[in-house]
Amino acid sequence: MRRPGSIVILTGAGISAESGVDTFRDKGGIWSRVKLEDVATPEVFSRDSAMVHAFYNARRAGLAAIEPNAAHHALAKLERVHDGAVTLVTQNIDDLHERAGSRNIVHMHGELTKAFCATCGAHLLADGDLSADLVCSACGHAGGMRPDVVWFGEIPYHMDDIYKRLLAADLFVSIGTSGAVYPAAGFVAEARAAGIRTLELNLEPSDGTPLFDEARHGKASVLVPAFVTEIRAGI
Ligand code: APR
Repeated sequence: MRRPGSIVILTGAGISAESGVDTFRDKGGIWSRVKLEDVATPEVFSRDSAMVHAFYNARRAGLAAIEPNAAHHALAKLERVHDGAVTLVTQNIDDLHERAGSRNIVHMHGELTKAFCATCGAHLLADGDLSADLVCSACGHAGGMRPDVVWFGEIPYHMDDIYKRLLAADLFVSIGTSGAVYPAAGFVAEARAAGIRTLELNLEPSDGTPLFDEARHGKASVLVPAFVTEIRAGI
């Protein structure tokens, strides 16, 4: 692959699958076990915050048992060695990209390791279980604490910055995402319309596959390190 200047990479749950993190829409995935309407909307949180907190507290506690895989490490290496900008836009709320060493990360759906106080708007670290009656360390009030995660019906974070970087890129790469959820699913069409090269690395064809200039199907732990080697060799 001709060596690109700046690269924007979108990752989804599939990049963390080989680290033992369940994806959402694969067979046996999270949404086959839990209804998203019961845990991932602002409406259900205002109705039953304890149920929503329990879902995210369990996923946050699970972070201790997982490790980054070869795909996460390959992307961190690409950021270190590539002579152009490498921006990692992730839909994932786990911290595996950080723990693999990536730095230039945009969490468009928020982070399990963060909390958000709806009373004062503070974004805080969450290193244990959260509950709505937790007192906010920023404003001293209880009652507003929620996971710092973007739910269905809410606007993802950092969208202006994401589009600015995407439209300035030479290459857009989508890794481990089904292309089922917008606005992330629309990035490939935006890139194409701007004449930017697009590549999909995914276990199987996704909803967006027909829009990519090139699509490679297989495991992220195999495809992503091979992709990084290719970029470094400028082949
Ligand atoms: N290697 C590469 N790709 C994989 C692997 C793997 N080992 N395992 C699974 N995949 C692919 C699947 O083929 C699928 O296309 O990862 C994709 C996972 O798709 P989803 O489960 O829909 O996850 P994602 O695309 O990240 O979902 C987007 O939806 O529910 C919301 O907020 C949630 O951020 C999430 C968003």
